[in-house]
Amino acid sequence: MKAWDGRFEKGTEPLMERFSASIGVDWVLFPYDIKGSIAYAEMLFKIGIVNQREKNLLITALKEIRNELEMGRLPFSDALEDIHMHIEARLIEKVGELGKKLHTGRSRNDQVAVDMRMFLKEALEQIDGGLKQLLAALLGKAGTEQRTMMPGYTHTQRAQVVTFSHYLLAYFYMFKRDRQRVKEAFTRIDALPLGSGALAGSTIPIDREFLKERLGFSKITENSMDAVSDRDFLLDALFSLSMIMMHLSRLSEDLILFSTEEFGFVSLPDGLCTGSSLMPHKKNPDAVELIRGKAARTLGDLTSLFALLKGLPLTYNRDLQEDKEPVFHAVTTTHSCLAIMTLVIEGLAVRRERMKEAVVASFMPAVEMAEYLVLKDVPFREAHQIVGKMVKYCEEQKKRLVELTLEEMRRFCAVFDDDVRSYIDPGHILKSRKTIGGASYKEVAREIAREQKYLRH
Ligand code: ARG
Repeated sequence: MKAWDGRFEKGTEPLMERFSASIGVDWVLFPYDIKGSIAYAEMLFKIGIVNQREKNLLITALKEIRNELEMGRLPFSDALEDIHMHIEARLIEKVGELGKKLHTGRSRNDQVAVDMRMFLKEALEQIDGGLKQLLAALLGKAGTEQRTMMPGYTHTQRAQVVTFSHYLLAYFYMFKRDRQRVKEAFTRIDALPLGSGALAGSTIPIDREFLKERLGFSKITENSMDAVSDRDFLLDALFSLSMIMMHLSRLSEDLILFSTEEFGFVSLPDGLCTGSSLMPHKKNPDAVELIRGKAARTLGDLTSLFALLKGLPLTYNRDLQEDKEPVFHAVTTTHSCLAIMTLVIEGLAVRRERMKEAVVASFMPAVEMAEYLVLKDVPFREAHQIVGKMVKYCEEQKKRLVELTLEEMRRFCAVFDDDVRSYIDPGHILKSRKTIGGASYKEVAREIAREQKYLRH
């Protein structure tokens, strides 16, 4: 016997049962499904569909079922399709005919929508917690590395001196924006679809305001057809998760590069690396490589959900059952990647000397050398040309810019003076940059102070 087989003459093909069952995936929704059903029973009492005694029986039984599910004691069967049917069937087993009243005015269509929204509200709160911990780790490291100079790169070529602290703060701001995005997704998820029925509402006076209060939503959805077919809220959530994963992946890529012998800027914690089965010397950055790899799959989750929706006519279609795997996968993956990255950042050993060597050995002060000329009234485009030629000359002479004699410098431009050497010293550059948000000791310290305040509340 199936809940819906009144109009059927023949039973379901066994292969079809296996094919269409989602219990193996959607059972994780049970806490939300039970919570929604308890609220629904209370509402049915309020509008006179069940009496007080019946309401209490329903709620007691639903709580028992939750317990059975928690203990893994409720056997799953493909014949019952999904978590909603499993709970309803068990309820009828427990309380008999009364159990058949619970679904009054309700459809699995509004039921699954409300379950997914409740699930995501909790999930996004956990993601936000993970983001906050990562932000604290980044800010902590940024605090201790304020005087650590490193090359900043464009095109993966040494470009201008920055501090490792400034570099870490760049990621801090990405993840800070991610928190904002998660919060915005949460706001749109936070609307109750329950009470929309299959698609059109009900002649039974379902009290949606009551359900909203009971289930902790801040508003109710406005159109029943939209409510049962809308999955925008999943895409909002998955977009914000994909963005987090993309940021984590870029940071991973940097750390993979920086931990190579060629760079040698950082050393990843032993506990997050693995060795080689053949090469005894290897220490591989598996944790961050896996984050980079997993980012590909969460991006796939977002894409598959978009593809799932783009051709669906209103309203509910069974295709929508396929929304769960990408959502659950993206949530658990992002959550674990945030936790792993937090450990990576906390345990990161910074090789300050190596970074400094890379700064000193470079032509990066060329920019400030040109700016030095600008301050002596040379137009910037001209200054650029002059210093470009000097770099070429240095390459031939195997010298650094600072090693040129004043006499050599003046061959390129007469306005050079002795003070140019101190002007292009990396430490001096970091002390004297003037722009808001730029790579200077002062700006970085200001950012750190501001963001410590932000993290405190
Ligand atoms: N398992 C289904 C899903 O996840 C529940 C909704 C089923 N609704 C229906 N009309 N068959 O989408």
